[in-house]
Amino acid sequence: MIDGSDSAVAVPSERAVSVTAYLSAVESYLKGDGEPALERAYEIGRTALAQGVGLLGLARIHHTCLETLLSRANSTQGCATTLAGAADFFAECISPYEMTYRGFRDANIALRRFNSVLEREAKRIAHSLHDEAGQLLVAVYIATANLAQDLPQAAGHVANITELLDRIEAELRRLSHELSPAMLKDFGLVPALTYLAEGVSRRSGLRITIEGTPERRLPEPIEAALYRVAQESLTNAVRHARATKVTIRLRHEAAAISCHIRDDGVGFDVNLAETSTDERGFGLIGIRERAGSLGGSLEIKSAAGAGTELVVSIPLET
Ligand SMILES: Nc1ncnc2c1ncn2[C@@H]1O[C@H](COP(=O)(O)OP(=O)(O)O)[C@@H](O)[C@H]1O
Ligand SMILES: [Mg+2]
Repeated sequence: MIDGSDSAVAVPSERAVSVTAYLSAVESYLKGDGEPALERAYEIGRTALAQGVGLLGLARIHHTCLETLLSRANSTQGCATTLAGAADFFAECISPYEMTYRGFRDANIALRRFNSVLEREAKRIAHSLHDEAGQLLVAVYIATANLAQDLPQAAGHVANITELLDRIEAELRRLSHELSPAMLKDFGLVPALTYLAEGVSRRSGLRITIEGTPERRLPEPIEAALYRVAQESLTNAVRHARATKVTIRLRHEAAAISCHIRDDGVGFDVNLAETSTDERGFGLIGIRERAGSLGGSLEIKSAAGAGTELVVSIPLET
C-alpha cells in the first residue's frame, strides 16, 4: 500500500499515491538497490493504477521527486546519473499502465473482429432465410397442392394453409432483408431504416418515428454502422424497455452525423450495466465499438423510469 500525508494525488479511493513513498523508492534505486527497488517501482505503478491515478498524476509525482533529487546533485555528472536512474525507475513504474493499454488495444481489436464476424453471420443467416428456407417452403407448397388434388374435400383447409405459407414466406423475406439490407446500399439510410422500423413496429406494436434526412448519401461504412445501431436499439427497446414509442432522429451537421434514438421505456442504470459482470449482451458494447472504429462516440442517457436515449456521433470528412 502506498500512503502518506504529504502532497498526494487526489484519487477516488481513501488511499493515495504519495510523493514521500515514491521519493524513498527512487532514492533506494539510485543508491543501487537494483531489482528489489524496481519491484517497488512496479508495485507503486500497479497500486496507482488500481487506485485510479492517471498517468499524468504519476508523472506529476515523478516530476516533483525529480526536482528534489536534482536539487541535491552537485555536479553535471551527478545530475545525469540521477536523471538516467530516475528515468529507469519511472519506466518500470508505468509498465502496468503500458500493459493495461495493450490489453485495451487487444480487446478493441477483438471487438472489431467480433463486429465483422457478426456482420458476416447476419449475411449468412439472411441468405439461409431467403434461399434455403424459401426452397423448403416451395416444397411445402407443392406438397399441399398435391394434397388438394388427391383430397378435393380438403381444398378449404389447403387454401388456409397456403395463405399461412404466403405470410410465412413474406415474413421470412422481410426478416432476411432487415438482417442484411440490400436496400441500404441501393436507396440509403432513411429508406432502409423506414423498412426496418415498419417490420419491428408490426411485430412488436412499438410506434417508431424517423426524423431528419441526411443532405446527401453518407459513406457506406457510416450508413451501415448507423443502421446496425438503430437495429440494436430497437431490439433493446422491444426486449428491455417496455417502451411504447421510439424516435430515431438523424442530424446531419457540417462535420458530423449524429443519430439520436430515444424510447419512453423503463430506462436503466447505465453505470451498473456497463460495469456489471453479470451475463450481458454485446449490443451496447458493439455500438460503442462500431462508432469508435469510425472515430465517433456513443453517449447513453438513461435513468430508471425516464426512458433511454442513445446518441451516436460520427465525424464526416469535410
Ligand atoms: N432501451 C433500453 N431500456 C432499458 N434497458 C436497456 C435498454 N438498452 C439496454 N438496456 C439494459 O442494458 C443491458 C445491456 O444491453 P445490451 O448491451 O444491448 O445487451 P443485451 O440486449 O443482449 O442484454 C440490457 O440487458 C438491459 O438491462
Ligand atoms: Mg441488446
